[in-house]
Amino acid sequence: MPATCVIGLQWGDEAKGKLVDLLAPRNDIVVRYQGGANAGHTVVCGKEVYKLHHVPSGILSEGIMNVIAPGVVIEPNMLIREIEGLEARGVNPRKNLMISERAHVVMPWHFVEDKATNKAVVSGESIGTTNRGIGPCYRDKVGRTHAFRLADLLSDQMETKVRETVAAKRAMLEPIADPADLETLVADKIIEQCKAWNAILGPLSADTTNYLLDAVDEGKKLLMEGAQGSLLDIDHGTYPFVTSSNASGVGVSSGSGVPARWITNVIGVAKAYSTRVGGGPFPTELLDATGQKIRDLGREYGTTTGRPRRCGWFDAVAVRYTARLSGVHYLSLMMMDVLSHFDEIQVCVAYDVDGERVTKFPCSAEVLRRCKPIYETLPGWNTDVSGVRKLEEFPANARKYIDRISELISVPVGVLSVGPDREQTIFLI
Ligand code: IMP
Repeated sequence: MPATCVIGLQWGDEAKGKLVDLLAPRNDIVVRYQGGANAGHTVVCGKEVYKLHHVPSGILSEGIMNVIAPGVVIEPNMLIREIEGLEARGVNPRKNLMISERAHVVMPWHFVEDKATNKAVVSGESIGTTNRGIGPCYRDKVGRTHAFRLADLLSDQMETKVRETVAAKRAMLEPIADPADLETLVADKIIEQCKAWNAILGPLSADTTNYLLDAVDEGKKLLMEGAQGSLLDIDHGTYPFVTSSNASGVGVSSGSGVPARWITNVIGVAKAYSTRVGGGPFPTELLDATGQKIRDLGREYGTTTGRPRRCGWFDAVAVRYTARLSGVHYLSLMMMDVLSHFDEIQVCVAYDVDGERVTKFPCSAEVLRRCKPIYETLPGWNTDVSGVRKLEEFPANARKYIDRISELISVPVGVLSVGPDREQTIFLI
């Protein structure tokens, strides 16, 4: 099986990092292929907690190569902090991390632009980005004229390109940006910063596309680590309340350069309930004490921004859609322990849209906003399952819940998680 993919099926934060960390030793190379520092992966290893934003979660496993592929947008300061933070704790990413020269770089003006546009209202609400410059960087990537790839930072044309781009960006941003933020865009300062970045990132840069194509030809096993979740996919998610990359399974090939014929195993990751950060429609959102209970029990606060996450019941309409979209073979159902203390648990099985029962996830955020969840009520298990280590040890009602979700989304469950630690994971595959 050359390539296994770990894909989020909801709005991100599905605990994909934990799964990647566990699957990494079964593979030769772990690949991050989209998103950037908007992602925050928490990996718990014994008493150590690692928060990773760019570096693939396989970095903690000995002897595995970790690749940041062309589809990722790199925020150099944050990436360097991650590398140095790992080194301070005895992990040496310089020997097993490779960054694509084709990957785009989030430059200082992208932060200014993200901040200036983040509050803009689209479809009646602001997107509420992570303020990491992600949208503006991808916008420039597609626009091409002002884009910086890692190769551009390393080129001897870097200084000229920075000077031209700073002049152009200052003129463009002047009408919308905070004047104090604009003042930070000084070419000489940015050039010095680029040189400092190059000294650290230059030795790690490589042609990862050919490296991965050679690797699959040689029969090496790849693990593709998705960031965010399928409902945030730029083309197939709850647009415009999405991120700027293909966060569903469809993004694996374009972001990594590994053709679809090598992708043989897709694991879709979903929480046993739903969360969302930022704006946008969320049919099963609970704005009551139950929502707060899920938030408290699940410690649902953003890894990257610290924002409280919006919480709600499991949405089988949405996850059935994203599991199909992402070509999922197995479901990994996470955070089962968070639902340990409920008398009843609801699962959304259809939407009521203006009096009509709908089971297909709608295209439009406007329609999604009008969707009222139609729930099926399942009995809770009211038992702490964080110590469960085998499927048979789950209480009967928890087994019923797992089976019902699997049935609703038509995908077998391959992994169950009952807590943040590595050993709190039950592999059925
Ligand atoms: P951006 O990716 O920073 O542009 O943010 C766009 C939307 O995606 C916002 O609603 C963010 O909260 C959301 N988002 C981006 N990255 C993540 C993530 O890793 N987890 C959860 N939500 C995310």
